[in-house]
Amino acid sequence: MNKKMAGLFISIMMMMISLSSGSSASKALGVYEVKRGNFSAKFTNWGATLISLLVPDRYGNMADVALGYQSVYEYTNDTSYFGSIVGRVANRIGGAQFTIDGIHYKLKPNEKNNMLHGGVIGFSDVLWKVTKHESDRISFSYHSCDGEEGFPGDLEVSVSYAIVAPYVLSIRMRAKSLNKATPVNLAQHTYWNIGGHNSGDVLSDVIQIYGSQYTPTDDNLIPTGKLVSVKGTPYDFLEPQTIGSRIAQLLPLRGYDMNYVLDGGKKMKLAARVYNEKSGRVMELSTNVPGLQFYTANYVQNVTGKGGFVYQPHSALCLESQGFPDSVNHPNFPSQIVRPGKTYKHNMVFTFSTR
Ligand SMILES: *[C@@H]1O[C@H](CO)[C@@H](O)[C@H](O)[C@H]1NC(C)=O
Ligand SMILES: *[C@@H]1O[C@H](CO)[C@@H](O)[C@H](O)[C@H]1NC(C)=O
Ligand SMILES: *[C@@H]1O[C@H](CO)[C@@H](O)[C@H](O)[C@H]1NC(C)=O
Repeated sequence: MNKKMAGLFISIMMMMISLSSGSSASKALGVYEVKRGNFSAKFTNWGATLISLLVPDRYGNMADVALGYQSVYEYTNDTSYFGSIVGRVANRIGGAQFTIDGIHYKLKPNEKNNMLHGGVIGFSDVLWKVTKHESDRISFSYHSCDGEEGFPGDLEVSVSYAIVAPYVLSIRMRAKSLNKATPVNLAQHTYWNIGGHNSGDVLSDVIQIYGSQYTPTDDNLIPTGKLVSVKGTPYDFLEPQTIGSRIAQLLPLRGYDMNYVLDGGKKMKLAARVYNEKSGRVMELSTNVPGLQFYTANYVQNVTGKGGFVYQPHSALCLESQGFPDSVNHPNFPSQIVRPGKTYKHNMVFTFSTR
């Protein structure tokens, strides 16, 4: 064996070792559990997705409060973004285009002329690498290439899920721009039903959203650019109200699908609280980003999920903290541009309790 052959042999051996040496090198779909006591969360590396979360009710009975699929392989076919991380830019970019520093970028539209949730193959549609997995925490990373779905620049993305106290799930999303200025807006897209994923609709859940304004949209759900007070509209959840109390007034929309301007801006602050009377479960979300998309699963129809249960419209709610939709085309919205060497930081804390 000459020197070149020996080098090749060694590199093939190293490759085989790294492929067989556990989760971080493996390209296969995995299921990973993190837990503390009986508070347990499961994830898959497909889309860095939360696939289940077990939470006790007021009597101590556990239920899985996240919608999802029976088999992890079904996530590769999902079109609802169940539990995944969406990006590079969550929500819509009007006309699937934008200009940064005088350079015009055309993206691949995937909803009429617009781009939704990062495009045809967004961050929810790729395998992430598991970079850390301990009993109560897990971290995923993904390298998004320059030009992916039309976005400029290489981006190093990571998300860390950790149980930081009993019934407290912390989510930290980071994205470092390596070489070009790019918009970044990540969102965690879990469909929550704190009565249990298979308990039916969420219309009787009581919700409070700490946003005094919202960003109204056109017929294609692209923001007009205005910030409007929630006062006197069905969007006013400053005081606790059931989700169903005014949902019929939203016709022809099928339910809530709106970005709130959170009071408190970019500070870490309470964004929303949900209460399910039957189980007594309460879920609170705090976040450091300025917006919150409140979505009531309007387009989920006949989706067969865990245990064969069939999910229908309003069978869950999403609390997608994020920057404002289409911010890259609205100079009056908080900027989402991340410049080379800078890091995007998005923190979420979900706290569960009972009444
Ligand atoms: C879950 O743990 C809590 C706190 O230790 C306890 O009160 C509850 O009974 C447990 N529930 C089950 C089903 O084990
Ligand atoms: C994905 O969808 C296709 C078409 O409906 C189906 O044939 C396939 O079995 C699905 N795969 C999984 C893993 O569910
Ligand atoms: C959902 O299922 C019902 C009953 O089988 C059917 O009537 C309806 O057309 C389906 N809707 C969609 C969007 O698939």
